[in-house]
Amino acid sequence: MKGIILAGGTGSRLYPLTKVTNKHLLPVYDRPMIYYPLNTLISAGIKDIMIVSGRGHVGHFLELLGSGKEFGVRFAYEIQEGAGGIAEALGLAADWAGAENVTVILGDNIFQDNVRKDVESFESGAKIFLKEVPDAQRFGVAEVKGSRVLGIEEKPKVPRSNLAVTGLYIYDAGVFEIIKTLKPSGRGELEITDVNNAYIRRRAMEFSVLEGFWSDAGTFESLLRASVLVQRYGICQGTAGVPGPESGVDPLRDI
Ligand code: DAU
Repeated sequence: MKGIILAGGTGSRLYPLTKVTNKHLLPVYDRPMIYYPLNTLISAGIKDIMIVSGRGHVGHFLELLGSGKEFGVRFAYEIQEGAGGIAEALGLAADWAGAENVTVILGDNIFQDNVRKDVESFESGAKIFLKEVPDAQRFGVAEVKGSRVLGIEEKPKVPRSNLAVTGLYIYDAGVFEIIKTLKPSGRGELEITDVNNAYIRRRAMEFSVLEGFWSDAGTFESLLRASVLVQRYGICQGTAGVPGPESGVDPLRDI
């Protein structure tokens, strides 16, 4: 299993915070945002990680993260020239991923859960991670029946459920063939929801519902919320500079 962090896009919703730096380098509580998705992958036991970033401030990613030695993993870097969508960014990792399965995480998604078991037990097809939310219309929304996902709608005005599709996905190598068939959506992007619906049509999609907190961090409100959640509750204990229980940090202390 290889890991891919998608950290492209423009960060326009966080302007002017993103005028002179990249969204994924902004602080979430006490760490740069990208440390959290990185921690999710490393905690899942993944050792080969590609970071796909946009053109601005690429040198800062390299300076911050380096080769991966400090984290006990290996990093590869790829550049997404425009902001053609999450699926476009993922497609750039095709040659590097080869025939391996990939765990893909959005650079602005903060997860509390440890998904090591899901990563280790994955065989083929695809898996998504859902979370009950009060504001489902902001996200991809999944309709499920029993253990089946019936379909996903991207930012529906009237959501069919309160289950948001979080920015964490496991795919087999077939994902790169699916991406080649995609057409840009109404917002001009290759949509990850179209990729997921392709797996659903093949009946090759599984899902888990997350227990811990989850937040994106791409708007002022969600960035603040992510910081408060991390400060209050901590995230899955891992390696990427995130304190474990032995560190003496009390995750339940007040802000
Ligand atoms: O946060 C989860 C949601 O992320 C999902 O529920 C949606 O289904 C999915 O489409 C996505 O929605 P957003 O519209 O909120 O995604 P956004 O454009 O904010 O991009 C999120 C991250 O994806 C961003 O931090 C970096 C990466 N990205 C995005 C774009 C548009 C890229 O790497 N390249 C891109 O071109």
